[in-house]
Amino acid sequence: MQEQRDMEKHKTIHLKDYRPPDYLIETVNLEFDLDEKRTTVKSLFTVVCNHDKCEGIHPFVLNGKDLVLKSLKLDGRPLAEHEFKIDDHSLTLLPVPNRFVLEIETEINPSANSELSGLYLSGGNFCTQCEAEGFRKITYYPDRPDVMARFFTTLVGDQAKYPVLLSNGNLIGSGQLKDGKHFAKWHDPFPKPAYLFALVAGDLARIRDTFITMSGKKVDLSIYVQQHNRDKCAYAMESLKLAMKWDEETYGREYDLDTFMIVAVDDFNMGAMENKGLNIFNSKYVLAKPETATDADFQGIMGVVGHEYFHNWSGDRVTCRDWFQLSLKEGFTVFRDQHFMEDMTSPGVKRISDVNVLRVHQFREDASPMAHPVRPESYVEINNFYTVTVYNKGAELIRMLRTILGPAGFRKGTDLYFSRHDGQAVTIDDFLKAMEDANNTDLGQFQRWYAQAGTPELQVTRAYNAKTKTYALTIKQTCPPTPGQPAKEPFHIPVAVGLLDNYGRDLPLTLDRGTDQQADSSTIVLHLRKEEETFFFPGVPEKPVPSILRHFSAPVKVKSDLTDDEHLFLMANDSDEFNRWDAGQQLAVNLLLNLVKDYQHGKTPKLDRNFVSAFNKTLVSGMPDKAFQTVALSLPAETYLADFMHVIDPTAIFEARRFVQKTLATELKETFLAIYYTNQDTGPYRVDQASIGRRSLKNICLAYLMELDEPGIRKLCMEQYRNAENMTDRVASLATLANFDCTERSDALASFYETWKHDPLVMDKWLSIQALSRLTTTLNTVKLLMADPAFSLKNPNKVRALIGAFSSNTVRFHAPEGEGYVFLADQVLAINTLNPQIAARLVSAFTMWKRYDEKRKALMKAELERILAAPKLSRDVHEIVSKSLA
Ligand code: BES
Ligand code: ZN
Repeated sequence: MQEQRDMEKHKTIHLKDYRPPDYLIETVNLEFDLDEKRTTVKSLFTVVCNHDKCEGIHPFVLNGKDLVLKSLKLDGRPLAEHEFKIDDHSLTLLPVPNRFVLEIETEINPSANSELSGLYLSGGNFCTQCEAEGFRKITYYPDRPDVMARFFTTLVGDQAKYPVLLSNGNLIGSGQLKDGKHFAKWHDPFPKPAYLFALVAGDLARIRDTFITMSGKKVDLSIYVQQHNRDKCAYAMESLKLAMKWDEETYGREYDLDTFMIVAVDDFNMGAMENKGLNIFNSKYVLAKPETATDADFQGIMGVVGHEYFHNWSGDRVTCRDWFQLSLKEGFTVFRDQHFMEDMTSPGVKRISDVNVLRVHQFREDASPMAHPVRPESYVEINNFYTVTVYNKGAELIRMLRTILGPAGFRKGTDLYFSRHDGQAVTIDDFLKAMEDANNTDLGQFQRWYAQAGTPELQVTRAYNAKTKTYALTIKQTCPPTPGQPAKEPFHIPVAVGLLDNYGRDLPLTLDRGTDQQADSSTIVLHLRKEEETFFFPGVPEKPVPSILRHFSAPVKVKSDLTDDEHLFLMANDSDEFNRWDAGQQLAVNLLLNLVKDYQHGKTPKLDRNFVSAFNKTLVSGMPDKAFQTVALSLPAETYLADFMHVIDPTAIFEARRFVQKTLATELKETFLAIYYTNQDTGPYRVDQASIGRRSLKNICLAYLMELDEPGIRKLCMEQYRNAENMTDRVASLATLANFDCTERSDALASFYETWKHDPLVMDKWLSIQALSRLTTTLNTVKLLMADPAFSLKNPNKVRALIGAFSSNTVRFHAPEGEGYVFLADQVLAINTLNPQIAARLVSAFTMWKRYDEKRKALMKAELERILAAPKLSRDVHEIVSKSLA
C-alpha cells in the first residue's frame, strides 16, 4: 500500500500522453470566508462536456490537495457517498450529465501552509500562489492550463485586519457585513486557467498612478505594500509605466483591463507571478530606495516588473496548453524582458550579463544529469522544470528566431501568434507555425532546438586563398549526448560573423553561396544547417581576423584556432561589443586554465606580461560606457572556468583567480587608485546608466585594490563603507571587507547589523555577504547565523541569502573534507518538509557531483544517498536526487 502510494507520488508524466480535457468549465464562482486557520471556500462551476457526449462515459476528475471536503452538490442536489470517490489528490465523479452545475465547499488552513503554494499567510496578510498546481490546494478543480474559465470571486474578511480585499479583474461590488466583516466582489472578464487566479487580503498601503494606453484608455495602476514600505515603491511604478509603453511600441500590445495591481509580499518562492490583473511579487522585486537597494536591485526590479507585465499577453491572453509548453510563455517572456532591459540600459552590458547567466548556469545544467530539452518530454514534479533551460535557453531560441526572420519578420510572426491564438491555450508548435505562416518560411529544422537537449559545440577552421582573394570558414557542429538522447540531429544555427582587416576595421562582406544569407555588409548571418559546412567569402583583399558568433547569436560553445594575439586584436578592435568582451574573456580563460595547471603541479605561477598590458589598456581606456569597462575588467567566474575542466578542481581555480587578481592589483595599484578616485559620485544618487557605470568601475577598482591586503587600502574601504550614501557603495565595500579577517570587517558587519536589522531585504545582503566570504571560517559563521533573528528557515529569501549563497561559494562549499556537503544535505532535509520547492532548488548544488575528483565525488554521493534514504522525502527533492544518482 505504502509502495503503491510512492509509485503514485513519483509517477512520471509524459508529453506523449497528453489528452484534451473531458470537461470544460465555463464560469467559476468562488466565495472565500477568510480565516487564518479555517478558511471556507464555496465554489460553483458550470461544467460542460468536451466530447460529443460524456454522460456515462467519462468520469469527471478534479484535482485536490490538503482539502477538507464539506459539501458537494450536483445541479443543486447533495451527492451521496457512492456517487463520488475521493483520495489524497483527487475527486472523481461518475456518472455526470453533459452539462451541469457543481457546488463544492472545502475548508483549508492557510496558517499551516509553509509550502507557500495555494492560499497562505505572509506578514499577517493572505495571498495566493497558484502556478503551477497551487489552485488544487484551494478547491477541487480540473487544475490544468487548458481548462479556461471566467472567474467571479467574492472575498469576505475582517474589516479591521483585512481592509484591502483583492482578486483578478474588476471590482464589481463591496460592502459591510455583520460581525465587523466586509466583502468585495471581483470579476475577471477574460477566461483564464486556474494557475492565473489570485487573491490578496490585508492591511496594505496603496500607491497609485495612471497610464494612458496607445488607444487613449486610462488604466489605474496600484502597488500594494505593507504600510512601512510605502516610501519604496516609486521605482517599481516607473518601471511598470516604461514596460507598458515599451510593449505598445515594440509588440503593439495594449493593456486590456481598467486596472493593474501589484502586491509585494515577503514570503514568496519565486521572484514574482503574473496573475491576471493582480501580479504578486516577492518584495525583493518591488521595494527599493537608494539607501536600501543596490544598482543591481533597481535593475532587477525593472526587469521583473517588465517580465510579469509582458506575460499579460505572452502567458495570460495566450497561455500554455500543458506544462510541457512552459517555455512558450517563459522563454518568450524572458526574451521580452531581456530586450526591454537592453533598450532601457546599456544593450551590450545587458547582453553580456544574460550570456554569463546562460554560460554559467544553463550550460552546466545541459551537462548534468538533469539536462532536458527546452520542451521536456516528461517530468515527475513540474516545479522542478522552471529551469534555466526552459527560461534562459528558451529565451535564446526566441532570440535566434528574431535573428533568422529579422526584426520585421519576427514582429509579423508575433502579431499573427497573438491574434490567431487570443484566448487559447496553445503549444510551442503553434507559436512556430505562426512564425512560419507570417514569414512564408519553414522552421522544421529549427524545431529540433526545442526537442534536443545539450549545448551544441562549433568547431571553426579558416583558410585564406591569397591568389583568389577568397576566405573560407568551415564550421562543424556536434552536440554531446544527454539523458535519453544518445545521438542528435544537426541544428539550424544562425552564426553572425564579421571579418576584420589589419587595421581592425570591418571588411564589407558578401557571400557567394546560398540565397538566404543575410548581411548588413559588416556582419553576416551564416545559416549552418548541416553537420559541417564551408562558407566562402569572395573579394577579401587580405587575410582577415574573424569575429565569430557576434552578439552571441546562438546558445553554443565555439572552439576556434584563434591565437592569443588574435584575441588581443579583437579585444581592441571588434565593432561588436559582445565579441570585444568575449575575446578578453577567452584570453583570461586560457590564462587561468594554465595557472590552474601550474597550481596542480606545484609550479610557481607567473602572470603573462601581455595579459597585464592588455588589462592595463582596458583600465586606462576611458571608455564612454563604464559599465562595459567594468565587465571587461572582470575575470571569468569560477563556475565558468570549471566548465572547461575534465575534473573540476575548485581549490586550484580559486587560487589561480586570486593570484591573477592580486598580481594585477600589485602591478597596477596606482592606476586602480587613480580611477577609484576619479569615479566618485558627485551630487545626489541617481540610477541612470552613467552613474551606475561610474559606481561599478569605482567598486571593481576597490575590490582589486583590497587584494593587496594592505592596512591603507582597508582604511580606504572602511571610509567608503562609513561615508556611503547609497547601498551600492556600502555593499561593495562590505562585501570585499568580508573576505579579510580584520577589525574593519567585524566593525562594518556589526554596524551594518545595527543600522538595518529592522529591514529584512537589507539583512538578506548581510547574510549573503558572510556566506560568500572566502574566509575558512565561513561555514562556521553560516551555522551561527542560522540562529540569528535575521534568519528563518521558513522564508525563501533568507534561505537563498544564507544557505543558497553558501552553496555557490565554491571553494568553501567544496571544502575537501566534505563538511560543506554535510551541512547542505542537513538543510535540504530540514526544508524538505517545510517547503519542498525550495529544498529541491538547494539540492541542485549536488547535481554536478560526477565532475569532481574521486574524494569529493564519494562525499557528495554519500550525501545524496543519505537524502534519498530519508523518510517523507518530497516528490520535488526525490526527483532531483534520484536523477542525479542515476
Ligand atoms: N510565472 C513565473 C512565476 C512562477 C514560476 C510561479 C514557477 C510559480 C512557479 C513568473 O513569471 C516568472 O517567471 N518569474 C521569474 C522572474 C522572471 C524575471 C524570470 C521568477 O520568479 O524567478
Ligand atoms: Zn515568467
